[in-house]
Amino acid sequence: MISVVLGTRPEIVKMAPIIKELKKRDIDYFVIHTGQHYSYNLDKVFFENFDLEKPRYNLEVGSGTHGKQTGEILKRIERVLIDEKPEIVLVEGDTNTVLASALAASKLHIKVGHVEAGLRSFWKWMPEEINRVLTDHISDLLFAPTEIARNNLLNEGIREGVYVVGNTIVDSLKLKKIEKIEKDFILLTLHREENADNPEKLKSIIKGTEMISEYFDTPVIYPIHPRTKKNLKKFGIEINEKFIKLVDPLNYFKFLSYLKSCKFVLTDSGGVQEEACILKIPCITLRDNTERPETINIGANILAGNNPKKILESAVKMSKANKKWENPYGEDVGKKIVDIVQASR
Ligand code: UD1
Ligand code: UDP
Repeated sequence: MISVVLGTRPEIVKMAPIIKELKKRDIDYFVIHTGQHYSYNLDKVFFENFDLEKPRYNLEVGSGTHGKQTGEILKRIERVLIDEKPEIVLVEGDTNTVLASALAASKLHIKVGHVEAGLRSFWKWMPEEINRVLTDHISDLLFAPTEIARNNLLNEGIREGVYVVGNTIVDSLKLKKIEKIEKDFILLTLHREENADNPEKLKSIIKGTEMISEYFDTPVIYPIHPRTKKNLKKFGIEINEKFIKLVDPLNYFKFLSYLKSCKFVLTDSGGVQEEACILKIPCITLRDNTERPETINIGANILAGNNPKKILESAVKMSKANKKWENPYGEDVGKKIVDIVQASR
């Protein structure tokens, strides 16, 4: 039996192709949701979008500090794994859900399969970097999206069980035809702890975004993550609605419509950097580093940090991008992963 673990929006999006493939092949599997994300528009809406069944377990851990959230997942998932005794646990990405689940499984001698293994920002301040490094070191099957990811693993001495398969996001993007929106706008997503929890950085990024809107005389649409919404209020940062239009988080296919139709996207999201690259939308990443260097190397993405002037300059540069890059993230990735999982049993 295979256990698929997920807990947040990007994990649901990127695990959906694998769950669908397991179901199609009639393989015995079940889903554990840690409940790290629980708001309708970060969670249930994606189950509806991808037509996924309700998870067998929802651990309902909710929000909290890193230690509390990670600890609660570790404690609660261990119980389920002891009861269900799966042969393999599949985790995806770099969230607290991933680290806690991989740790619980590995200590119970259950095989861990890490989807999206080998990504590195080489910046240890970032909670996700800690989660992904530690998870890779206790995983048995490592599904690296690219050769760059495989090399990162090799450099840390991880040789066994590594498969370069691409990223399941390519399958998720193909699940439904993406409708174009006929209007002129720029898209923004912003939620990463380093930006959203730091008042200076947050203020500076908002300023840069407003400067971009003014320069291009184009509105910015921002589906706002609850972390950032909470912090804008807490820090008393005002958004000029003339430039930035706030909307609630969008469902997956609506978000993809916005992404495919925008002039360019400003983001600190991991998944959005990949999706923009695949959809040939220029991406301006509001960070100083990225674990997705593939997108930078082919000219689809640029690192703009948080300085307003640099953000504007980066946007001006990317608005002239030739959009001729190739998708670096493979094809039919969910199928490849399930093939390897089946062969490993
Ligand atoms: C988490 C992941 C991050 C990922 C992101 C995807 C970690 C360390 N971080 O960050 O890597 O990019 O998910 O979106 O695992 N909240 C709600 N409703 C929810 C969930 C959260 O309102 O359903 C609010 C709460 O105020 C919470 C805050 O958002 O305190 C942050 O949630 P949390 O799960 O800690 O981190 P994310 O920022 O969502
Ligand atoms: N996304 C979405 N609606 C939104 C914003 C993002 O469906 O309003 C999707 C996006 O297409 C991508 C995923 O959420 O697949 C990325 O999640 P997020 O940025 O929260 O996390 P990260 O990828 O940074 O871990």
